[in-house]
Amino acid sequence: MVSLASRIQGLDSSPIRNILKVIDRPGMISLAGGLPDSHCFPDLHIDVDTQLMQYGASEGEENLRQWIANDLVARGILADANSVIILSGSQQGIDLTAKLLIEPGTPVAVESPTYLAALQVFKLFGAQLLDYDSSQFRHSDESFAPALLYTIPTFQNPTGKVYDSATRQQIARQCDAQGTVLFEDDPYRELSYEPCERKPICAMVKSAPWIYQSSFSKTLCPGLRLGYLACSASLYPYLLQLKQAADLHSNRVAQAAVYSLVNSPDYHTRLSSLCELYKNKRDRFDRLLNHYFSDIAQWDVPPGGLFFWLRLKTAHPVDTRTWLPDALAANIAFMPGESFYSDARPASGTIRLNFTYANNEDIENGIACLAQIIRKKLNACS
Ligand SMILES: Cc1ncc(COP(=O)(O)O)c(C=O)c1O
Repeated sequence: MVSLASRIQGLDSSPIRNILKVIDRPGMISLAGGLPDSHCFPDLHIDVDTQLMQYGASEGEENLRQWIANDLVARGILADANSVIILSGSQQGIDLTAKLLIEPGTPVAVESPTYLAALQVFKLFGAQLLDYDSSQFRHSDESFAPALLYTIPTFQNPTGKVYDSATRQQIARQCDAQGTVLFEDDPYRELSYEPCERKPICAMVKSAPWIYQSSFSKTLCPGLRLGYLACSASLYPYLLQLKQAADLHSNRVAQAAVYSLVNSPDYHTRLSSLCELYKNKRDRFDRLLNHYFSDIAQWDVPPGGLFFWLRLKTAHPVDTRTWLPDALAANIAFMPGESFYSDARPASGTIRLNFTYANNEDIENGIACLAQIIRKKLNACS
């Protein structure tokens, strides 16, 4: 019998990865993962300098870090190339942060609901998860003093919500007052379909240590596995050593490809076309939801990002995970809401739907079929 590390008891298998395993099945319509539209992926014509095939720096390529630092400064974050670490996907930033700051019992504040793969990592390291609601920061609360506060304030996963300026300021003040490390995860910020507040909270803290991260997965393509973090000087050397211990450095060829893409003359046009396409997909998705779901669910139209978050109209709590087998058998994948809660609540009556990945025809068929399955389930339990 192999003796496993005790932390493995905290390891949940990610439901999303399990669903992603079946989305390539012929005929499957996926409204589940946070996948970009594959037709928008860039053409990668890269001449690879042989030098790039050599081992590189753990913090990443200097030119890409400088480009990122300039972008961060434009967002109001005090950063330079030496406060940036290139990550092998921003998921790695969650892992490194958890390794640095979480011990069994460390209080970590999380939105409720929040990104399920962050919950998975925090639980693995034994965090004591404290749910928060952004509205609780309206009054400073001295009894709420987590060591780490994780937030996705812009086009949140899974709800699509965006925090207004006052809420951002309040979170920054709360972290300053308590010396809480602010961990801001911002992979969706460029996918904005309405004018709204997007200023990073990390640009607002005065004394609290901070880690800010984002990704090239949603704007370029996830297969390159590139993201980045920037952080306060006090945390940087530790995160860099953890990065080195994890994988020495991120893929240099991918970094060169991203550097060339973000510097290409049509990069900004690319981003605007992507937002226009996704805004149209969002609006069409909303019209279809109104047609098929208005009697059984409520939702807010997300001002950006990739998801609709549906709250089902039910008299009794329902566990949407139990509907997944029937949906998958009918070739529709969706994300049950329960997995996005720190307490994996038994019945949340919520589901997350992605509107960017599937094509228009599949989206219509998928929504119609899912509504039929859910209506039947709701009738059966009423
Ligand atoms: C909030 C959030 N953080 C991090 C990630 C990880 O992204 P990646 O590792 O592709 O950069 C995701 C992916 O969906 C996400 O939604």
